[in-house]
Amino acid sequence: MEIFKTIKSLQERISFLKKEGKTIGFVPTMGALHEGHISLINRSVEENSFTVSSLFINPTQFNNSEDLEKYPRTFDEDSEKLQSAKCDILFFPSSQEMYPENEKAQQFDFGKIATVMEGRFRPGHFNGVAQIVSKLFRIVKPTRAYFGQKDFQQLAIVKKLNTNYLKELKIEIVACKIIREKDGLAMSSRNLRLNKDERQNASLISKTLFTTKELKNKMDVKNLKKWVLEKINKNKYLELEYFDIVDNQNLDSISNWDEKNNKTACIAAYCGEVRLIDNIAIT
Ligand code: PAF
Repeated sequence: MEIFKTIKSLQERISFLKKEGKTIGFVPTMGALHEGHISLINRSVEENSFTVSSLFINPTQFNNSEDLEKYPRTFDEDSEKLQSAKCDILFFPSSQEMYPENEKAQQFDFGKIATVMEGRFRPGHFNGVAQIVSKLFRIVKPTRAYFGQKDFQQLAIVKKLNTNYLKELKIEIVACKIIREKDGLAMSSRNLRLNKDERQNASLISKTLFTTKELKNKMDVKNLKKWVLEKINKNKYLELEYFDIVDNQNLDSISNWDEKNNKTACIAAYCGEVRLIDNIAIT
């Protein structure tokens, strides 16, 4: 696997590949890689002639400086995992490379989809994601870019970013399914920060989500939300931040099951100090 640290050197390599007619699959990451990331790499390797991944802990998407400080930094393990998964190129830039001094930060307007759920509790988060993803897309110019469905709202933002701001790059966004631990907990780099007791109790988040799918036929939306709040908060390790059932198209909160579009139940909860998110399709 080739490793590039500067935009210029990566771009030179990529334009050479493009001239040779190669397709490029791209998997942006912030490192602390787990099987979820590797499933994205595997899919990219299957569907493209070259796979590029990036490892950059993007400061502008952290609205909490402690969260940024505590984000796991595991470069050696990450590059080994990428190499074993047959990733061809790793882009590992510095902060200075991605955010040069005196550069004016771009502001994006995604409308309501950026202000609900994660947007409500993490102000500025999606603007930071859009800043880094648009920079990376402009540098890598991939044929396809791969994102996990665990970050359901991020995926909606990236799709809108791609159509509203980066249309000329003609990138196909590929949504990949959530990869879970044996007990159902959605894989996340943040799981590394859970202690043993927290880790055991964290799986109640996904278990509760799975049950909401069954309860759909027995409860109205309002009572189901109340049930989730009680179920999560009854556990002494967990605290619910939000639970919502939203329309997949516009992320509007639904109030009854008859609404016609496909729906997704989304949850964010603290397990100890660690904030975890998950979701499940409720069609
Ligand atoms: O999902 C992530 O890991 C990050 O938000 C991303 C897309 C790599 C941007 O920093």
